[in-house]
Amino acid sequence: MIKNLQDIVTLHNGVKMPGFGLGVWQVQDGDEVVNSVKYALKAGYKAIDTAAVYKNEEGVGQAIKEAGVPREDLFITTKCWNADQGYESALAAFETSLEKLGLDYVDLYLIHWPVAGKYKDTWRAFEKLYKDGKVRAIGVSNFHQHHLEDLLADAEITPMVNQIELHPLLSQEPLREYCQSKNIKVEAWSPLGNGKLLDNPVLKEIGEKYNKTVAQVILRWDVQNDIITIPKSTKEHRIIENANIFDFELSPEDIQTINSLNKNERTGADPDNFNF
Ligand SMILES: NC(=O)c1ccc[n+]([C@@H]2O[C@H](COP(=O)([O-])OP(=O)(O)OC[C@H]3O[C@@H](n4cnc5c(N)ncnc54)[C@H](OP(=O)(O)O)[C@@H]3O)[C@@H](O)[C@H]2O)c1
Repeated sequence: MIKNLQDIVTLHNGVKMPGFGLGVWQVQDGDEVVNSVKYALKAGYKAIDTAAVYKNEEGVGQAIKEAGVPREDLFITTKCWNADQGYESALAAFETSLEKLGLDYVDLYLIHWPVAGKYKDTWRAFEKLYKDGKVRAIGVSNFHQHHLEDLLADAEITPMVNQIELHPLLSQEPLREYCQSKNIKVEAWSPLGNGKLLDNPVLKEIGEKYNKTVAQVILRWDVQNDIITIPKSTKEHRIIENANIFDFELSPEDIQTINSLNKNERTGADPDNFNF
């Protein structure tokens, strides 16, 4: 379990990844994303999660430069969008992302969704990028167990991370167990259910016991379950609030109560049925 905002988890290739970071989906390029990333870096965050399709890689890169944090202290994730999947197109998409970010390398590059018939070719491109030293780690996102099994049947390198929708209403226990058995770290997207979980009465009641907000309770539940988490906010006070979870511990009973909220309920698309 990570003990503070800068604490790391070690991926199966030895690369150290912060267990907590800032997500920037639905954050406007320009001032909004530049400010969000700067607030996070000022608050001590080291990891930023973007994607080509978020169309804000340039702003993320600008914030990194302006904040003046040494590059080697940061952990930057971006993702290959569905339309760019395939061997040559994924290689080209990576170069575009790198240029927009203004970086020499990316820490973690993810296949954004398991596009049928394409993700194995995309993965070969990822393996090349990894071997060429352009990315420190490679992984996938939105992969069910069967997608991973299919990928692993031909892969030379096992993905280091699977970033999936994960929150108390979609706790993904079977997939988490499978990933653990393969040494693949699980990272939660929409940990706050894209903001929709924040008025959950059970979580509110737990929060009151610890004098913490619902967001803090959920993010602490992630940490205590060894789930890498990347909440998004554009507001400085919430970016600070979300990271202020290392001074309390949820009891085993409260962890169990939160586990029991699972309804396999998604806020986003099912990776077996997406049309983008
Ligand atoms: N791989 C994928 O397919 C995928 C899909 C979705 C997301 N992601 C990644 O996961 C990250 C997080 O997911 P997400 O952006 O969907 O949502 P989230 O982190 O679950 O929730 C963000 C929402 O909650 C609000 N919020 C955040 N902290 C709060 C707080 N302390 N109190 C009250 N409201 C708060 C935010 O509003 P304000 O901004 O107004 O504070 C925003 O509306 C994304 O940004 C992205 O990096 C990946």
